[in-house]
Amino acid sequence: MTSMMVLALSALFSVANANTADAKIAERIAPVGAVCIEGTECAAAGKAAAVASGPRSGSDVYGTYCAACHGTGAMGAPKSGDSAVWKSRLAKGFDKTLANALNGINMMPPKGTCGDCSEAELGNAIKHMSK
Ligand code: HEC
Repeated sequence: MTSMMVLALSALFSVANANTADAKIAERIAPVGAVCIEGTECAAAGKAAAVASGPRSGSDVYGTYCAACHGTGAMGAPKSGDSAVWKSRLAKGFDKTLANALNGINMMPPKGTCGDCSEAELGNAIKHMSK
């Protein structure tokens, strides 16, 4: 608002005085985000956004990253929905199976090509495939 007024004023008088220059510099170096105080309206809005961008669901991750191989069973990938195959994979324990997905195993690439997947998201995808 202030900067709009400053701009309007400088246009009116077509004077680039020192104050206008200061205001422009202040505008340019202003921080990108505004500080939100806990308990205020803007903080609540931030929390809602964080929930919306929480861990992706198993079906989302699976559909985007895992289906290429696990949908068809390519290269011996345990096929999505083949509960018998998944049961034997998971017999060693969910954590070990998840660790193999994180680190990769044989033709299975690390994180199943989902480089920005969290452990929770990979776990969700595994649960989705082994249902
Ligand atoms: C390029 C193909 C490919 C993609 C993409 C892929 N996988 Fe795999 N995955 C494989 C193959 C092949 C195996 C079997 C590896 C083996 O045991 O020899 C496998 C095995 C697994 C296993 C079993 C590991 C174990 O301990 O038995 C899990 C869990 C797994 N993948 C999860 C995922 C997840 C989650 C994704 C997506 C985020 C994914 N994979 C994407 C090819 C793929």
